[in-house]
Formats: sequence, structure tokens, C-alpha cells
Amino acid sequence: MPYKLLFVCLGNICRSPSAENIMNHLIAQSGLSDRIICDSAGTSSYHIGSPPDRRMSAAAVEKLGFKLQGQARQFQRSDFEEFDLILAMDKENYHNILYLDATGQYKHKVHLMCDFCSQYTLKEVPDPYYGGPEGFNQVIDLLMDACGGLLEHITSQEYDLQS
Ligand code: 4NP
Repeated sequence: MPYKLLFVCLGNICRSPSAENIMNHLIAQSGLSDRIICDSAGTSSYHIGSPPDRRMSAAAVEKLGFKLQGQARQFQRSDFEEFDLILAMDKENYHNILYLDATGQYKHKVHLMCDFCSQYTLKEVPDPYYGGPEGFNQVIDLLMDACGGLLEHITSQEYDLQS
């Protein structure tokens, strides 16, 4: 069974699709595409069915050289069973995810994305939606750092990465 990662933000059109696409890029570079699978979701229903935000995708093209792919969906309780690790972009997302886990049985699967950063000291990926282009660029920088750390974490653990 591949190892399954779910990235979660509020709308699933800016931060979490960026994390998903960047992680897929790093996974492909490492030749692990058949061992690690990524998806993303939003805690809200605001943008269900929408593609990634145009401003976010433009930042990805400029800084990384590729467009973002995806279609927004809402986080659902079954995701707790479905995924091995759930990465929240900020503390509000984190608490909203855990709110749906009434018994706390999945708490060990849920982490803050910035906990995997090694260069940046920010604890959350700031919401860029109501700001200017700099916010979108910062999201890419932070996520490149966090995704690199996350991949290192997964590959260095005793996780079964058999396909
Ligand atoms: P995201 O950004 O959570 O990174 O996808 C946002 C997208 C939409 C909204 C807020 C944040 N919104 O309020 O519609």
C-alpha cells in the first residue's frame, strides 16, 4: 500500500494544493511516485470544485516553473482512515480537523506543516488569499522548505514504502 499524505488548508485553492503539487514534484524527483501518494482538501466548503487560485498558480509558475493542478474538495471524516499523515497549514485548520475527531483516535496523524521546516521559523503557512503577490511567493518558499523536510522525515522513518 502506498503511503498517503493529505494537505489541508481553509479553501483548498491556495496553500494545500501548492503543498500537494510541490510534494508530488519532490516525490517524482526522488523516484518515489508509486510509493507516496498526495491529496489535498479544505476545512471549508467555500470553493468545492474550483481549480487552484490563479494568483497561487502564477507564483508556482514563476518560482517553480509549473502550474498547479487540482480541484478543491472539503475535508471529510473518512480522510482520517484513508490517510497516513494529515498536514494542516495553520493552527485554525489543525483545530478544525481535530474537532471532527471526537475521540482523539486520529490525533497522532495530524501535524502542522511548518513543523517540517528546517530553514524557516514560522509556525504556520500564512493565508495569502486577501493579500498581494508577496504572500503567494512566501507560501511557495515555506512549502518548499516544509515539503523537503517532510519527505526526509517519511523516508528516514520505518514507514513501509512498498508499492
Ligand atoms: P487557502 O486560502 O485556505 O490557502 O486555500 C483561502 C482561500 C479562500 C478563502 C480564504 C483562504 N476564502 O475566504 O474564500
